Amino acid sequence: MAFEKNILCIGAGYVGGPTMAMIAYKCPQYKVTVVDINPERIIQWNSSELPVYEPGLDEIVRVARGKNLFFSTQIDKGIKESDIIFVSVNTPTKTFGTGAGMAADLQYWEKTARHIREAATSNKIIVEKSTLPVKTALAMERILKAGKNGACFEVLSNPEFLAEGTAVRDLEDPDRVLIGSNETASGLKAREELVKIYANWVPEERIITSNIWSSELSKLVANAFLAQRISSINSITPLCEKTDASISEVARAVGLDSRVGDKFLKAGIGFGGSCFKKDILNLVYLCRCYHLDTVADYWEGVVKINEYQKERFVLNMLNAMFNTLAGKRVCLFGFAFKADTGDTRESPAIFIATRLLEEKAELVITDPKALDNARKNLDGLDGKILYFEDPYEASVNCDAIAVMTEWGIYKDLDYPKIYRSMTNPAFIFDGRNILDHRRLFEIGFNVFSIGKPPMTHF
Ligand code: UDX
Ligand code: UDX
Repeated sequence: MAFEKNILCIGAGYVGGPTMAMIAYKCPQYKVTVVDINPERIIQWNSSELPVYEPGLDEIVRVARGKNLFFSTQIDKGIKESDIIFVSVNTPTKTFGTGAGMAADLQYWEKTARHIREAATSNKIIVEKSTLPVKTALAMERILKAGKNGACFEVLSNPEFLAEGTAVRDLEDPDRVLIGSNETASGLKAREELVKIYANWVPEERIITSNIWSSELSKLVANAFLAQRISSINSITPLCEKTDASISEVARAVGLDSRVGDKFLKAGIGFGGSCFKKDILNLVYLCRCYHLDTVADYWEGVVKINEYQKERFVLNMLNAMFNTLAGKRVCLFGFAFKADTGDTRESPAIFIATRLLEEKAELVITDPKALDNARKNLDGLDGKILYFEDPYEASVNCDAIAVMTEWGIYKDLDYPKIYRSMTNPAFIFDGRNILDHRRLFEIGFNVFSIGKPPMTHF
């Protein structure tokens, strides 16, 4: 069967893979090919063990793969055959030179743009899927225009708003799809082409369009706002711990105001994940480039509170456990940056584990999905670290449990059994406020949570 359109995606990561799988699943009339420079990634996408764990993803990949969804390393061929190219390569924070630690490292983006330019022999629509600094599309256009093959390119911005762990649901039923384009005749035409793809399953009123810079900026601002809510609620937690207030009660009272809303007000050990910190720092860098230092300082505060919250958690542990952790065994419940994913990028658990090792504590780490990544993250650090998938085995002979990830399984464990297997006095530090604190206290634990007064037996 001849396909109506050939869609290519460069970058088979957390964003590119699931997004293309959804397009292929919803639009059997299009051929969707995902390419990547990493051959191992492609082998995994073609196997029964996908490189990304997302509830529901296996099923949609199984339906579409081999029919109209293909994973390949043949980037040139993919470029030549495609009408529309999504670019979803990574854009980490720069680690060198000007803007190190703040600006986005655009080297993969630029390489990809040059690659498209060299390989393309016909006109293409290029879609920015990765989160990028504002005005990247302009740079992309300049690189593409310098091509000698006579091909014309129209660059669109179509940021992805999916969250990990709920990627399939977010892609299937998005709050909105945002498409930014140049407001020229060819820009508007390209924009319409992309709208048509999403309109196969997304109601038209949820597909919003804008100029290209608004679209690029909206993605950074959306993530900054979400992260800011978490830092706002976390900033109140030390005050609650010092007084008799409870952060859950405060969050509930505040969130019930419909103008504020009740989502993203869960206090904890701070946000992780590949996007929030990177995108805020990007925004901060952008503001500084335009000499908007007051604005930059404001947003930088969101990241500072996040760092403070992680350090505070370690200091609270130290203080509670008689100011020494040396030789004590601490069990980390969870290592992923959030529940329902094996991803540990920027996970607060990495910082906390590193700090606990510096205090000479011994670590036992348990997580249903993230142990392989945890091993990689902590590789080479001094100190003793054990890994167990089973939380019961992991907590044996430990002095303390520290909840790092809000996995549902940790709520329903047999805590009397765990208590009996631990060293006395036994501590629980609930970094995600997911456990039944009163019950744990009654079992015998000394319980420390985030933004609530501690419950201790001494
Ligand atoms: C990435 C960015 O981090 C994010 O900001 C953006 O919004 C979307 O792309 P993610 O999909 O989570 O997010 O990244 P990652 O899982 O690292 O995937 C990127 C893929 O691109 C990797 O598989 C990498 O091998 C591939 N890649 C990178 C290329 O195919 N070509 C390159 O030149 C560079
Ligand atoms: C985020 C955005 O939600 C998504 O729209 C964007 O496309 C990518 O970045 P993600 O990083 O996958 O998605 O996860 P998210 O659910 O936003 O959680 C980020 C972090 O914030 C996690 O560490 C989570 O535990 C933490 N969090 C979230 C809180 O601490 N409290 C909350 O109330 C919500």
